[in-house]
Amino acid sequence: MIEKSSIESLKTTLDIVDVIGSYIQLKKSGTNYKANCPFHGEKTPSFVVSSTKQIYHCFGCGVGGDAIKFVMEIEKLSYPEAVEKLASMTNFTLHYTQGNTDHSDTKRILEQCQKWYIKNIDQNPTAMAYLIGRGISHASIEKFGIGFAPSGNVVMEFLRQSLLPLPQALESGVIAKNERDEFYPRLVDRITFPIYGSLGSLVGFGGRTITNHPAKYINSPQTKLFNKSRLLYGYHLAKEKIYKTKQIIICEGYLDVVMLHQAGITEAVATMGTALTTDHLPLLKKGEPRIVLAYDGDKAGVTAALKAAQLLIAEGFDGGVVLFPDNMDPADLIASGESQKVMRLLREVKMLIPFVLEKQCDAYDLSNPRQKEIAFGEIKQFLSSLSPIMQEAYLPIASTLLGVSVKIFGFRNSQTKPSIQSVTPKDDVLILSLLKTLIEFPQRIDLVLDVLESEILGNYAELFSTIVHGKTEESNVIALSMDERYHAMEETEFKESLLRLLEVYYTQKSRTIHKDPNLSYAQKFHIKRKIQLDILPRLKRGEFVKPEL
Ligand code: CTP
Ligand code: MN
Repeated sequence: MIEKSSIESLKTTLDIVDVIGSYIQLKKSGTNYKANCPFHGEKTPSFVVSSTKQIYHCFGCGVGGDAIKFVMEIEKLSYPEAVEKLASMTNFTLHYTQGNTDHSDTKRILEQCQKWYIKNIDQNPTAMAYLIGRGISHASIEKFGIGFAPSGNVVMEFLRQSLLPLPQALESGVIAKNERDEFYPRLVDRITFPIYGSLGSLVGFGGRTITNHPAKYINSPQTKLFNKSRLLYGYHLAKEKIYKTKQIIICEGYLDVVMLHQAGITEAVATMGTALTTDHLPLLKKGEPRIVLAYDGDKAGVTAALKAAQLLIAEGFDGGVVLFPDNMDPADLIASGESQKVMRLLREVKMLIPFVLEKQCDAYDLSNPRQKEIAFGEIKQFLSSLSPIMQEAYLPIASTLLGVSVKIFGFRNSQTKPSIQSVTPKDDVLILSLLKTLIEFPQRIDLVLDVLESEILGNYAELFSTIVHGKTEESNVIALSMDERYHAMEETEFKESLLRLLEVYYTQKSRTIHKDPNLSYAQKFHIKRKIQLDILPRLKRGEFVKPEL
């Protein structure tokens, strides 16, 4: 178990803005930060992070909590797992009460293996010759920490001699277990590529065979630290350039990244044998770069690029696609001295939307009216998923590609919907500001309880009661305290606002009381007189009135 005090001191070193900012793009907004909520689909940001309160809250779906809660939710981890994850992200050493269920062993093993793999490269001429043969420079080998995992026996011997515990080595993904329950190293006779998280901590390895093993590459298995579909190879080395140039190049393989960096294109990263998925988006959104997909020109590459492009368009990314011709990938081209060609291709990217339109057309024989009809349906659907501006911009291209008139799409008549603005009625602003004040200054609750019937608060009566009962941890209370549309008021303003609210309420009541079916005519008459001749004048003089109607 992790020691409680250790978690407490971890908490004090965490900044929720950094933590959440490493998953999603945060924008400063007043004293808070805002983003599109990662927990529910939305186009306008209602997810707020408060650095002063060290909490987050989504006004759209109601989620909220501290940094640990966020990591639990976004990574689908248990509490201790999230604590460990945060500790590893921030290089914080946790203390444990017993046993060692922590990640520090797993991390230590990864790091020791990495050191050893690197050492092996210098001692293994075959491995070194392989790397040099692929055009990789010594500087790149060093920069990317490329190493070598020798034969199985040697690897196991290394683990034993270094006294690295095998169960933790298993957990780290360095070794695996066969049917006979024996441990064996996952990477054998392979060039090793250490894989780092976006914050630069070692999480796993990829290994390329140099003995023509049928599995060309083997990667770490899914571990607590290693989640292939969320990671981008090389990101930690590319980050700075990505932020600076506002561009990220996504390619397919380890070697593409290594060679592109070697050619000076240091904003290159790679998915590792998996498709680009929504899991990658938080990382991609950081720094708001345009995204260049640099894929192989073969069928698999085109299909992957099309899917990725559709995903990126739907998420509102700007960018383009390069498909490398003649079965050459960027690594091959650079290795054969064609860096200039790679750079040219990367400059001449096809924009995402035209790329998708073209590929959709390519999939059909447009000289056949039936097929053309299907292609038309697909493209029309794609265009209708775009914003009106994009739709208008790309409609001509679509019609040219398909060989149909623009009119046939029928988009002209479709009026753009007016954007719906969330407007809070004036009274609501007043009430919510008053309630926010009560959260900040609970000593004023008594006055309010004295003069206010909860009926006056309408929909907010329950929120009021939560505040009165001091339940400040409730998510609706947190939400209000972080909502910048409302402010906690100074004493005078607070009293004036309270008077105004009462005035509004009683005025309303005197106007509508005649409709109340539960009162006799005499009662209605009495109440109306009381309000008009007594209550309202007193409120106007600044006197609080106890409700006694
Ligand atoms: N990959 C993988 N497992 C495989 C094959 C590929 O994980 N069996 C991943 C690797 O990250 C690899 C990437 O997919 O780098 C691209 O695969 P591929 O194009 O086949 O390999 P290259 O990078 O071109 O490898 P090389 O140039 O070394 O042949
Ligand atoms: Mn290749």
